[in-house]
Amino acid sequence: MERKQFLRSLGAGAAFAIAFPCLGACSKDGGEPGGGNTPVPTGVDFTLDLQSAESEKLSRNGGFITKNSVVIVKNLEGNFVAASQVCSHQGYEEVRFLDRDGGIFYCEVHGSRFEQSGKPLNKVDQAQAKSLKIFKTELSGALLRVFE
Ligand code: FES
Repeated sequence: MERKQFLRSLGAGAAFAIAFPCLGACSKDGGEPGGGNTPVPTGVDFTLDLQSAESEKLSRNGGFITKNSVVIVKNLEGNFVAASQVCSHQGYEEVRFLDRDGGIFYCEVHGSRFEQSGKPLNKVDQAQAKSLKIFKTELSGALLRVFE
């Protein structure tokens, strides 16, 4: 079977995936606008209503949401913590919370992992790993303030 016939037999979606396998994941390393080198958020000060729909995922331990370039987490112990969504490695806005290893922050772009204190757990290249920026949280009834 010729390549053209083979691709046609797979259908358009599969043929596209084979022809352009690097779109998406590889573009993260390409320095495109909105990719790396995003500034770490500063002047953060906002309040979440924990009874609102946007905060629904914070009703369970291990749940998190993102807002204003901040990852807001209800950790596995039921405490609220917040960190920059912008990774300290190369500035991609891809930091998320993982409910494993006791609960860690993780950036999927190159695999950086951080303690909830922001301390790096690994380094993904030769450079010294930098801490992830952590924000303060303050709970008052059903209102959660996230600030510096
Ligand atoms: S930008 Fe490299 S691990 Fe996050």
